[in-house]
Amino acid sequence: TNVRQNRLSFTTDLEPAVRGADAVFIAVGTPSRRGDGHADLSFVYAASEKIAGALDGFTVVVNKSTVPVGTGDEVERIIRELRPDADFAVVSNPEFLREGAAIEDFKRPDRVVIGTDDSRAREVMSEIYRPLSLNQPPLVFVGRRTSELTKYAANAFLATKITFINEVADLCEKVGADVQDVARGIGLDNRIGGKFLHAGPGYGGSCFPKDTLALMKTGQDSGASLRIVETVVAVNDARKRAMARKVISALGGSVRGKRIALLGLAFKPNTDDMRDAPSLAIVASLAGDGAKVYAYDPESMEQARPLMPEVTFCEDPYSTAEGADALVIVTEWDAFRALDLDRVRSLLKQPIIVDLRNVYRPGDVRKRGFNYVSVGRR
Ligand code: UDX
Repeated sequence: TNVRQNRLSFTTDLEPAVRGADAVFIAVGTPSRRGDGHADLSFVYAASEKIAGALDGFTVVVNKSTVPVGTGDEVERIIRELRPDADFAVVSNPEFLREGAAIEDFKRPDRVVIGTDDSRAREVMSEIYRPLSLNQPPLVFVGRRTSELTKYAANAFLATKITFINEVADLCEKVGADVQDVARGIGLDNRIGGKFLHAGPGYGGSCFPKDTLALMKTGQDSGASLRIVETVVAVNDARKRAMARKVISALGGSVRGKRIALLGLAFKPNTDDMRDAPSLAIVASLAGDGAKVYAYDPESMEQARPLMPEVTFCEDPYSTAEGADALVIVTEWDAFRALDLDRVRSLLKQPIIVDLRNVYRPGDVRKRGFNYVSVGRR
C-alpha cells in the first residue's frame, strides 16, 4: 500500500510491491508445528527475508500474522542483519476477523491494536486506518510484545468462554436446568457479555485450537503456565468425542450397524473450513463404533471428502435423513434451522434428533413426535 498516494496495487512480484511502499503487511499462515503445538514461523521469517531485500526509504513492516511474543523482535533482527542500511520499523497489528464475516469485521472493528514504540510508524498506521474513522474504532497503541500477546489472549479468552458454558451445559443436563437461559441470565451482566456463550459441540476452526495451543506452549516455556488455557484445550478436545457418545446414548447405547445422518460438517456455518471441526471427531467415533454415517453440508463436502472416507455424502438434508436411525445437527447452517420436520420424521427410520447446536425449541420438536436431545436443556 502506498499511503500518501492512497494507492493499492497488485503484483505477483514482491520486489516492485515493497519498493516505495510506506507499509508492507506480512499476512502469512502460522500453523501449529507438527508434534509440539508451537506456531510454525518459517513463512513469517521467509517473508521477512524477501522484504529485507526490497526495502527502499522508510518502510513500516506490519505483522498481521498471529505470532508468539517476541516474533517482531526476530523479524527486526533478520531484516537488520540482511540490510544494515535500511530505514524501517516492525509493527505488530493483529487481526481479529472471523471467517465468513471478515469484510464486515474489517470495516467495523471493535478496536485496532497497533504495537510499536516508533513515532513515525505510529503516524503511518494512523493514516492507514483513517478511512475506518467514520465508525470511530479505537486505535489502541501499545508495545509490540503487548500487541502480539493481546491477539492470543483475546482468542484464548473467547475459547474459555465457550468452554465454560459448555461445561455449564453438561451440568444443566444433570440438574434439569436450561443452559440457554443461564447464558442469557449471565450474559446480560455487562461485565460478562452475551457473546460466545452458545453451548455446542466444542470450538473448532483455524484459530482457536491452534492459538490456545500456542499460548499454552509460550506460557510453559516462559515459566508462567496458563493453567486455565491448558484446561480449556483438554476439555474442548474431550468434548468433541463426548458428542459422539451423546448420539450413541440417544440410540440406546449402541450404533453398530445403525445409520446416522449428520447435518453440517464445517466447524461453523458460512464456511467450507474443516480445520479442527467437531464433525471430524464425531464421525471417527461413530464410524469406529460400527455406525454407517451419511452426511450433508452446503459448502464443505469437497473439503470433507478426503478427511472422512467412511462417510457417504448426500445431496440435501432429506436424502441424508432417509432411512436413518437418528438425525444429528452438527453445524447450525440456516438451511437446518427451518427443516420440514414432518417430512424428516416420515423419512427417518427412528424419530430421533440430536441437536448439538440447540437450533430447535424442544417443545416444537417433541410435539411432532420426535425423541429430541440437545445440549444443556432438558
Ligand atoms: C475466531 C475469532 O472470533 C476471530 O476474532 C479470530 O480472528 C479468529 O478466530 P473464527 O474461527 O472465524 O474466528 O470463528 P468464530 O465465529 O469465532 O467461532 C469459532 C468456534 O467457536 C466455532 O467452532 C464456533 O462454532 C464456536 N463457538 C463460537 C461456539 O461454540 N459458541 C459460541 O458461542 C461461539
